[in-house]
Amino acid sequence: MNGIFCVFEGIDGSGKSTQSRMLYEFTLNHGINSLLLHEPTEGFFGKKIREILKSNTLPPVLQQIDLFIKDRHDDVELNIKPALTRGDVIIMDRYFYSNAAYQGGVEFDAIDIIKMNIDEGFPLPHRVYFIDILPQEAMDRIQLRRNGNIELFEKIDFLTKVRDNYLKLIDDRFLVINGNRDINEIHREIKDDFLKLLKIHGRIM
Ligand code: ADP
Ligand code: TYD
Repeated sequence: MNGIFCVFEGIDGSGKSTQSRMLYEFTLNHGINSLLLHEPTEGFFGKKIREILKSNTLPPVLQQIDLFIKDRHDDVELNIKPALTRGDVIIMDRYFYSNAAYQGGVEFDAIDIIKMNIDEGFPLPHRVYFIDILPQEAMDRIQLRRNGNIELFEKIDFLTKVRDNYLKLIDDRFLVINGNRDINEIHREIKDDFLKLLKIHGRIM
């Protein structure tokens, strides 16, 4: 498995979709074989999750963890492992760090949820681009984007907890990015780091 695996994480509205797409386009423009993925997926469990997020009620936390893990299991088997085996670059908009940050709390500690995911045999990414913005900024962006149509997790108190959990998960795989800057400036920082990663893995001289 000699692919390169990069994950984008951050609270809702932090700019993950924007930045993961920009990095993906960069790889395409440079002839790098790559794959852009997103969790929750468009698969069976991913669709179930999206229905829940649009409703008014969340299932108990353990059931939420279980649904996201089932969705991730399909993603790992169908997309992630084959791409890593081919030696491709994977760019992911959310992975198991989201599980820990969003479902972590009084019942399950964020770090324990990471362990649950690793115990499932899910591969660790080489790099986590954590785009950090304050929850109030995120809410302002979400309100603009969705015209006031807010999903279950998109509340300021909840996003504050999620951000605090992310901060607890930071290790040397993480690059913490100040997301409160110009979109192109953020892309440049990520692209520079990504090129270093390619170098470390012997993909470029
Ligand atoms: P996420 O995928 O993390 O939810 P998006 O990439 O969808 O975030 O961005 C949320 C909204 O904020 C979108 O309307 C997007 O155009 C805007 N946005 C993204 N990055 C920035 C930025 N650096 N500054 C201002 N607005 C941004
Ligand atoms: P997503 O579609 O990425 O939302 P957005 O584009 O607004 O960031 O993800 C939907 C929601 O699912 C998001 O609020 C985060 C949540 N989520 C979890 O709670 N646990 C998880 O394991 C994953 C992958 C996502």
